Amino acid sequence: MARQDRWTESSQTETAMTGGSRFLRACLRKPVDRTPVWFLRQAGRYMPEYQAVRREHSLIEICKAPALAAEVTITAAEKLDVDAAIIFADLLLPLEPMGLDFEFQAGEGPRVHHPVRGAADINALRTDRTAELGYVAEAIRRVTAHFGDRMGMIGFCGAPFTLASYMIEGGGSRNYLETKRLMYTDRAAWDALMQKLTTVLADYAAQQVEAGADVIQIFDSWAGALSVADYREFVLPVTESLVRQVQAQGVPVIYFGVDTATLLPSMRETGADVIGLDWRIPLDTGWQAVGAHCAVQGNLDPIALFAPEGLLRARVEEIVRQAGGRPGHIFNVGHGIVPGTPVENVQRVVGWVREICAQMKAEPAAERNQPPFAFASRPV
Ligand code: CP3
Repeated sequence: MARQDRWTESSQTETAMTGGSRFLRACLRKPVDRTPVWFLRQAGRYMPEYQAVRREHSLIEICKAPALAAEVTITAAEKLDVDAAIIFADLLLPLEPMGLDFEFQAGEGPRVHHPVRGAADINALRTDRTAELGYVAEAIRRVTAHFGDRMGMIGFCGAPFTLASYMIEGGGSRNYLETKRLMYTDRAAWDALMQKLTTVLADYAAQQVEAGADVIQIFDSWAGALSVADYREFVLPVTESLVRQVQAQGVPVIYFGVDTATLLPSMRETGADVIGLDWRIPLDTGWQAVGAHCAVQGNLDPIALFAPEGLLRARVEEIVRQAGGRPGHIFNVGHGIVPGTPVENVQRVVGWVREICAQMKAEPAAERNQPPFAFASRPV
């Protein structure tokens, strides 16, 4: 279908399109009236409303109190006027029902008290207590009751590799030494850990879908630490299995990682509907790497939100124009919004994405960036 036709088809559905349907349609590579937008970590520490709740409650308390988690989720999505809300929770929550205690230390990130180091620790991990995470589903129920179809509802979980890295390293890591040591030296233990994580994460995602999540995002934030060969051998098969199990619940999957330029074609093999791109790769090059039959999400540098208005707008415009109006682009940052980000800049970006999409629709087709499915940049 010619680009002109795609825009035309989309404008016919415009009146019926809500933020939620716009977001979901883009995940499925269907035409939309304009590019949907949301932001990784949109509810977090840069937002004064969150800071106010956080002064009264710890992070874990907020996650475990559905009324608070829902409030934080709703406030951020409304304030930014985005097309999707991501449930306020944390990647590490499933560790607790698996039998690992952890805490968030001020300014230092998560700390797992007794990291997993070998087969015996892995044998002891529980997979039968995922129902204890029901507070996340309950928060989703409240958010969907508030928004109805107006807003896309994103549930999320970690990917097996990224969660395993926290379990094994005990926190964030630079070299992933212990994680890779286990992966290389005890294949059976590694596979058992991946299997247990997949069981728990699939259950957890199913609870979220049942509660109303339209889409599940799987965060493989640290997959970029792996070589292509290691990713393919130790991580891809189990991640594919998780993606398929989530899709079997009837929702699309967004699969996200950071520093993944070389991994993108392999990440696509998980079967995910949407691949998250970080900002290191031009959007069109990344899209070409995952293939035109996959949707993409991204990929503004979150630190560009600190740049002067002219430069920030130019970066936003580059991304929207590289996507070129093809169905299947969700505008986002390439990694989470960081503390200190000016909220008004995030709001401006939302407005600009809308403006630029409207401008592009008004341009004669020839002036638009590229013909359908021909990408501006050269392949990787
Ligand atoms: O909009 C949102 O902020 C949504 C909620 C959300 C949190 N964590 C709350 C949180 C989401 C989507 C996450 C995901 C998460 N958690 C990831 C994957 C996303 C990514 O950025 O790659 C990861 C790796 C974690 C683990 C985690 N949680 C770390 C490393 C840290 C400390 C560093 C940091 O990012 O702040 C956290 C703490 C955390 N989780 C905070 C929030 C709002 C900040 C701490 C606080 O409020 O006390």
